[in-house]
Amino acid sequence: MEINSKTKIYGLIGHPVEHSLSPLIHNFAFRSLDLNCIYTVFDVLTDNLEDAVKGVKVLNIKGFNVTVPHKERIMKYLDVISEEALKIGAVNTVVNEEGILKGYNTDAKGFIDSLIEAKETISGRKAVILGAGGASKAVCVSLALNGINSMVIANRNVDKAKDLAEYIKKEFKIDCNYCSINEVEEMSEIDMLVNATSVGMYPNVEDSPVSEKVVSKAKFVYDLIYNPFETAFLKYAKRNGIKYSNGFSMLINQANHSFKLWTGNFFEKDLVYMHLKEGIT
Ligand code: ATR
Repeated sequence: MEINSKTKIYGLIGHPVEHSLSPLIHNFAFRSLDLNCIYTVFDVLTDNLEDAVKGVKVLNIKGFNVTVPHKERIMKYLDVISEEALKIGAVNTVVNEEGILKGYNTDAKGFIDSLIEAKETISGRKAVILGAGGASKAVCVSLALNGINSMVIANRNVDKAKDLAEYIKKEFKIDCNYCSINEVEEMSEIDMLVNATSVGMYPNVEDSPVSEKVVSKAKFVYDLIYNPFETAFLKYAKRNGIKYSNGFSMLINQANHSFKLWTGNFFEKDLVYMHLKEGIT
């Protein structure tokens, strides 16, 4: 569809943004559903965030995603925030409804959808989450909201693991402990092991947050990282015959929930998967 005076504009606000895959996903989805919409990126520094949000309203930009480092800070500039986003303490999707900016978090739903795709049950299981930053919080909240039995949050900085574990325990009344990431090496049995640290992300592709010995003890392993597709952590899982999944499906699923909030429709995931794989390989 040709861009014209009726084209609705969407985008991604963050810094840096030039390597984002979101424009590939959303523009392909808009085209495949014949919607007169486009998606681009807006590289916004923290000092300019408030002005950028005012600009969204003035220019009638219909919606946007939010990425690092603005997912938490953006909240104070929005008019309404969903309950889920409040619990996670971060917004990754904003809808402009006639000048009212509504903030949502689709990362949590995206994570759960990707577990469903991997045919992993959550209810009644015990999870070990590596990392205690923003991504870890979205994962912990989504597991807590979806019936996980218990969790251990393991982090290099133990104080951050403690704060997150205490929040999860208080807010969701579930069994949630914490430890140093080194202590994970001593654990004997793990139902679900999730890497929500940035260890192993391109270009440090040889690094893993825990040893192969730990990975081999897990029943299911998940890495939020999607670049590279197969991190060192996931290679350990593969080598030991452990079921695993990567962050690529979470990326597509969170995008699909954002797309639904903006357009009222989901896109066809399989088509977008194929398009994205072609685009980046
Ligand atoms: P995100 O929004 O992706 O979660 P973040 O909030 O910066 O990003 O969190 C990064 C996570 O990766 C943190 O848990 C961090 O551990 P610390 O809290 O101890 O910094 C973890 N991380 C980053 N580099 C690490 C490393 N080299 N070893 C262990 N953990 C690391």
